[in-house]
Amino acid sequence: MSEPLTLNIGLCGFGTVGQGVWKHLSANLAELESRLGVKLNLARAAVRDPKKVRGVKIPARKLTADPLAIANDPSIHIVCELMGGTTLARQVTLAALRHGKVVVSANKALICEHGPEIIAAAQKHGGHFFFEASVAGGIPIIKALREGLVANRFPRIYGILNGTCNYILTQMEEHDAPYAPVLAEAKRLGYAEADESLDVDGWDTAHKAAVLAWLAHGVWVKPGQMIVEGISRITPDDFKNAATLGFGIKLLAVITRDLARNELSVRVHPTLLPASNVIANVSGVFNAISVTGDVVGTTLYSGRGAGQDATASAVISDIADAAALLKHGKGGHLLGEASAPARGGCRLAPPESIRCRYYLRLTVKDQPGVLARVASVMARQKVSIASVIQSPAATPGAASLVLTTHQSNERAMRDTLKLLGRLGAVLEAPLLIRSGDFD
Ligand code: NAP
Ligand code: HSE
Repeated sequence: MSEPLTLNIGLCGFGTVGQGVWKHLSANLAELESRLGVKLNLARAAVRDPKKVRGVKIPARKLTADPLAIANDPSIHIVCELMGGTTLARQVTLAALRHGKVVVSANKALICEHGPEIIAAAQKHGGHFFFEASVAGGIPIIKALREGLVANRFPRIYGILNGTCNYILTQMEEHDAPYAPVLAEAKRLGYAEADESLDVDGWDTAHKAAVLAWLAHGVWVKPGQMIVEGISRITPDDFKNAATLGFGIKLLAVITRDLARNELSVRVHPTLLPASNVIANVSGVFNAISVTGDVVGTTLYSGRGAGQDATASAVISDIADAAALLKHGKGGHLLGEASAPARGGCRLAPPESIRCRYYLRLTVKDQPGVLARVASVMARQKVSIASVIQSPAATPGAASLVLTTHQSNERAMRDTLKLLGRLGAVLEAPLLIRSGDFD
């Protein structure tokens, strides 16, 4: 019998995710090798500071401070880009693909910013690009869309795609916890991005939404073409108001395609979800995604969305796919590179087509006639008020007004916010939360 093929793996990045991959791949190596019929050799890893003390031990001779040396090393078959960022990560990814290697990536920011270039490089040079870990941590949502649900078109995909934000919102809701220490804990647990504003301002979710929209619809949507709002203005009082109205609050990505009009909309924002919605009850670092296909109906996926172990699980699944690809050669839809067909060239939905109900929180002067002036602005934009909750605001002489609306649309609400901001009685920028009317 011939010796099994040995595949050399290089990790560019040995931080939270890289160390998780090393640890779990080493622990389960024999079983994986026997299932795949190849030898897997964790050959090299690149870091910024080779002298740093790390939780997972690695022989010093395997470390380099030059990730490009791994990408260009002819003995390395599989390059895992686990550094983050979009400059050196792009160079490493493109270099490895130009050598025809398999690149495994957890880097959603890179895919969102440079996806077309990366896919073109893979196709031109015979390389392959796998990215299961880039969206929803340990949930195999990329595989679900590319493989399990390939028979479908997708009128709606929505869900929680950022573990850090869901962890923060859960702590605020359940323990009335202040924002800053909860964010610090999410960082300590290895959930947050190196630049945490990517998490809390919604951009990380937007990067992931762009990847899902591309897989589902074959269209690259840039964050600049989406509504992207983060969680930093949500207060414990918003949770209390939402609960009074029968809702929870989650940061969601919402990707909808009107199949009749061929309009696509991709948005990221805090969302009121009915307390009975399963996703409203997904807490902590967990992510959850609802995918509605025109053939299958609605399917639901949940699991840890960030952190060392969940993310390592997704990276190792890509390494296993890479091993199968390198052992058996190209072929088969299951192992094809990530080329999403441009399905029907849909266009982005205009603001009037994006419709839902809204929650509006205003801090106003507590004076006669103020509520009437607010209502009049909304009436002029044909925004119909469904309910009003008034309570004292922290500032003396001010009141907090929470208005919910009947169904309206993005253009009407944008104009309403602009006009409300100009009222002298409105003391700070209004906070808008959209309602998730998904049933
Ligand atoms: P991390 O803990 O900050 O680790 C980054 C690693 O890359 C470190 O080992 C760092 O070296 C190395 N590195 C950074 N810049 C480098 C450079 N210029 N040259 C050489 N090495 C460099 O980050 P992470 O949390 O593991 O995230 C890595 C990637 O996975 C990111 O794209 C992130 O978005 C993605 N991701 C993370 C998670 C998660 O839960 N953490 C989940 C899914 C996806 P040093 O150790 O010497 O600093
Ligand atoms: N910072 C990201 C999150 C990591 O919290 O979801 C996983 O992509």
